[in-house]
Amino acid sequence: PTPTLHAVDGALMLEDVALQDIAARYGTPTYVYSRAALTSAFDAYRRALNGRRALVCYAVKANSNLGVLSVFARLGAGFDIVSGGELARVIAAGGEAAKVVFSGVGKTRAEMRQALAAGIRCFNVESAAELERLNDVAGELGRRAPIALRVNPDVDPKTHPYISTGLKSNKFGVAFDDALAIYRRAAQLPNLRISGVACHIGSQLLDPAPMAEAAQKVLGLVDRLAAEGIALEHIDLGGGLGIRYSDETPPAVAEYLAPLLAVFDGRREELCFEPGRSLVGNAGLLLTRIEYLKPGEEKNFAIVDAAMNDLARPALYDAYHEVVAVQAREVPERRYEIVGPICESGDFLAHDRSLAVAEGDLLAILSAGAYGMTMSSNYNTRGRAAEVIVDGAGTHLVREREPIESLYASEKPLA
Ligand code: LLP
Repeated sequence: PTPTLHAVDGALMLEDVALQDIAARYGTPTYVYSRAALTSAFDAYRRALNGRRALVCYAVKANSNLGVLSVFARLGAGFDIVSGGELARVIAAGGEAAKVVFSGVGKTRAEMRQALAAGIRCFNVESAAELERLNDVAGELGRRAPIALRVNPDVDPKTHPYISTGLKSNKFGVAFDDALAIYRRAAQLPNLRISGVACHIGSQLLDPAPMAEAAQKVLGLVDRLAAEGIALEHIDLGGGLGIRYSDETPPAVAEYLAPLLAVFDGRREELCFEPGRSLVGNAGLLLTRIEYLKPGEEKNFAIVDAAMNDLARPALYDAYHEVVAVQAREVPERRYEIVGPICESGDFLAHDRSLAVAEGDLLAILSAGAYGMTMSSNYNTRGRAAEVIVDGAGTHLVREREPIESLYASEKPLA
């Protein structure tokens, strides 16, 4: 799944760097990303959108490391954020506020002020109440807030229920049938400037058809608005393109976008996309070391130094991540449960994997570039992993392993 991962004499390399060397230098567990893979994932969007007025706003929640953000900022990306914290990261990484769209159902007044002061490109408003609040806050600052209404096109993205977001039954966006009335209201509010419309139907989508269906619906709304004198400048179609974790066959970026672009053929509005996973997911892996092998009556366990606090997806979604040995070795293959040291039965990274490994060996948990580090925690007072970006034969430590003292530095024992 990671395009720049390959073996040389039985040793795994990411670009031109041996994963063993990374472990020796920075320790484990460590997230390792390939700059070339990040760049080529972004280029696939650029190429597919060539000749079109379009902006790719990387969804920061997928991986918010400043190193990763800086790679995309240099490539000219915009950013999709969901908090003031993410906005601060984008700016710290050299991203342009003027290319930032702000999604999320719970924007606070402070976050609105921060984003208005920074001069972001658009607020993707998710409720009528948020619209009123934003108008208020913008008025206080003497600004006009650019807005898009996030509408809920109510199409089934056919993905995991936890990550499908465009159905009527969930908290995101405004119901499609209410959109017109809310736009009319927005047009009356003095401190707002209607800029566009947004939708996002779900994540890890493997079929382009639901997105095209959503796009059709959104286009219908755009035309109805135009008929009322509300002309939109941009249409934001969200993120969602899936990646290959095991045997999925997601469409290539160009294949995924083609039916969408066809819907908007000949239209003047700028298109905007918010991909997260498809830009970073397969550009990263989690490097971990086997602490113990523990044979059991029913199962063999490989106990590694990474855990559910580092990579929550298996425990949380029963997600599959491929696991490979970093160094080929002449020992018999066995089937292992790959588990971490955390005190929960749910602390697993993979079930029932065939591996030829010994204690002390390194494993690479693949496709971990998206929603890996960003969903990590300090459960069991475990410092979070280091993060490294490989660039050709070079390595950059883009986040130091979190020191233990820092985990309780802001706490106080009672006197
Ligand atoms: N835009 C909005 C408004 C979103 O809510 C999301 C993701 C994206 C863009 C980016 O979607 P992507 O291109 O990455 O599919 N933690 C889950 C995924 C949650 C996705 C939430 N929203 C996971 O680990 O699978």
